[in-house]
Amino acid sequence: MSPAATTPPEVLAPSNGADSANGNAQGEQLGETPVFLSTEPGPDHDWKITLRGKVIAITGANRGIGLGLATVCLANDAAEIYSLDLFEPGEEFQALAKAHPKRVHYLHCDVTSEESVIKAVDTIVEQSSRIDGMIANAGMTKHQPALNFDRPQLEQLFNLNVFGAYFCATAAAKKFIELGIKGSIVFTASMTSYRPNRAAPSAPYGGTKGAVRNMAHTLAMEWAKHGIRVNSISPGFVRTQMTYYMNKAPDWNLKMQYYGGMPRLADPRELGGAYVYLLSEGASYTTGIDIPVAGIVGAW
Ligand SMILES: NC(=O)c1ccc[n+]([C@@H]2O[C@H](COP(=O)([O-])OP(=O)(O)OC[C@H]3O[C@@H](n4cnc5c(N)ncnc54)[C@H](O)[C@@H]3O)[C@@H](O)[C@H]2O)c1
Repeated sequence: MSPAATTPPEVLAPSNGADSANGNAQGEQLGETPVFLSTEPGPDHDWKITLRGKVIAITGANRGIGLGLATVCLANDAAEIYSLDLFEPGEEFQALAKAHPKRVHYLHCDVTSEESVIKAVDTIVEQSSRIDGMIANAGMTKHQPALNFDRPQLEQLFNLNVFGAYFCATAAAKKFIELGIKGSIVFTASMTSYRPNRAAPSAPYGGTKGAVRNMAHTLAMEWAKHGIRVNSISPGFVRTQMTYYMNKAPDWNLKMQYYGGMPRLADPRELGGAYVYLLSEGASYTTGIDIPVAGIVGAW
């Protein structure tokens, strides 16, 4: 391939947001190359998979999976990490911040409030002059038979897991477009987006995660022209406060023998490589997909 062939068609989408009703950029004629911000690597591209120089927001990173992801992003040279979390950071988060001076930040944020998410994204850009990635990770579950759910319980789950993820994605996308950044958005979905959690009844939770995984695909289609990639990760069973009960169940060992796969829960950091890949420019042509990380056993 000639050097010229590796030069990306770096075409900026119109910044006035004046898209025509059929979704094509203004002035675009049928049959012409669509106007878009290409993510294709340039001639000086560093082919190492790295987050070097990148500022990444992770919702719910004060503990659990989010904290594990923050750790792995830092290990892969992310410049700065922001945890957007509802609660004050605990000892584990403080320890990570202490180990990486000036690279780990906490912003109080309630992802169920669009205003709160927009404010947090603005603060990140004020403090760090950029934002390159958004991991919409904060979420919750509720285990009980479907017939016992009342409306407030359903609303709590959907407000956090679906509306929260949507506000994070749209706030980040608007900022990426404003700053001309080819950003990456990664949702934490779940294996329950594919099939029921046989360990505990949680139909509404599975519904929220199915919504998240589907949304990632559609947003990826809508925002490709802005150079924004959107993907999701579906964890299986990860060792956090959400799954404290699982390997304490009396039939755990029997289930492990029966279902096969890896007879254990995952350390949250074991998910990190997949997120790092999707956040990195190594994934410049990867958008609209879900990566299950479930050790087989978490996939049953
Ligand atoms: N643990 C698992 O096995 C597992 C499996 C699949 C998917 N997931 C998903 O992974 C994500 C993280 O789960 P986890 O196990 O680390 O849970 P966790 O409860 O340990 O952590 C959730 C974090 O989100 C924060 N949070 C809660 N409400 C918030 C809000 N309104 N605004 C901002 N932050 C808020 C919490 O303070 C906490 O720090 C969730 O979306 C969950 O559904 C977990």
